[in-house]
Amino acid sequence: MRDFHIETPRLILRPMETSDLEALLEIFGDPKVVASFDTEPFDRKQVQRWMQPNLEHQETYGYGLFSVIEKAEGMLIGDCGLEHMHLHGEPVTELGYDFRSDRWNQGYATEAASAVRDYAFGELGIPSLISLIRVGNQASRRVAEKVGMRLMEEITINRIRYWHFVIHRRTA
Ligand SMILES: CC(C)(COP(=O)(O)OP(=O)(O)OC[C@H]1O[C@@H](n2cnc3c(N)ncnc32)[C@H](O)[C@@H]1OP(=O)(O)O)[C@@H](O)C(=O)NCCC(=O)NCCS
Repeated sequence: MRDFHIETPRLILRPMETSDLEALLEIFGDPKVVASFDTEPFDRKQVQRWMQPNLEHQETYGYGLFSVIEKAEGMLIGDCGLEHMHLHGEPVTELGYDFRSDRWNQGYATEAASAVRDYAFGELGIPSLISLIRVGNQASRRVAEKVGMRLMEEITINRIRYWHFVIHRRTA
């Protein structure tokens, strides 16, 4: 896993490392980023707590949410990747993404998520991906649409309303 990465024109997606903490703290410590989760900015402990299950997921499956590096500056500007979970009692794989607010609206999330979609459908052979997006998160919804996902339904999980987006691997 050490040398594994996914490359796009502007980005490198590589496995998350414990040493990414500071860069991720800059992302999740930003009120603009966490506004979409309706929460206060994360402190260092909360970011560590957020990272831990992803590092374990990576250890188990060989992938998870990747750290996204902007090639131009070599800077960690976001996360994007996959998480196995359950929805309606069924196993599903979620495609997720978060980016530094000073990099928003430059197509980075779409570029990263498209590459992860192709990796999931290609190398991993995963048949479909979902995204759970809080109702009202228009930027995230737009990314899901640009990646080719379709809105299935609105669902409530732990009293929070989500848009449930889906995309299926083309088998033809
Ligand atoms: C969601 C997020 C990852 C998008 O990252 P990004 O790199 O800016 O995404 P892109 O540039 O690829 O695309 C953003 C799209 O949303 C659109 N957009 C942005 N804000 C919008 C708004 N308030 N209403 C409608 N569309 C909006 C942009 O115009 C763009 O669409 P376009 O290319 O058709 O113009 C980023 O906003 C983010 O990190 N938000 C906080 C964390 C988060 O919400 N994560 C997702 C959890 S489900």
